[in-house]
Amino acid sequence: MEPLELLALAKNAMLRAYAPYSGFMVGAALLTKSGNVYTGCNIENVSYSPTNCAERTAFFKAVSEGEREFAAIAVVGGQNGVITGLCPPCGVCRQVMQEFCNGDFLIYVIGPDGAYDTYTLAQMLPGGFTL
Ligand code: THU
Repeated sequence: MEPLELLALAKNAMLRAYAPYSGFMVGAALLTKSGNVYTGCNIENVSYSPTNCAERTAFFKAVSEGEREFAAIAVVGGQNGVITGLCPPCGVCRQVMQEFCNGDFLIYVIGPDGAYDTYTLAQMLPGGFTL
């Protein structure tokens, strides 16, 4: 699957964000090595800390369905769903990615002009914690 196709699925998932507290809507689309896609949105909570990011929603959906091999994730986000800049994954989500992915896992982020950037997990989480 092409990065722009995966990013389009992430944009669609962003529309399902539950973000009544921040208003910042995020969508993610996670591609498995076998070609399956799992989408996710951020799901906020009145108590704030139970909030789940879009990327982790996608990972937890996939892992709970038995997936273990991942190729790439696309992430988009913006205030009230309007994309004004790149939405790189937060540190917690990067740590979750590292749990299941190698350093060559690809992360696509897109800006308002439709141009996207590609990073590896190794670039986004150098020196990440492992046992
Ligand atoms: N958020 C994500 O869904 N993914 C990220 O990588 C960064 C932040 C969400 C969490 C919260 O609902 C909102 O964006 C504002 O932080």
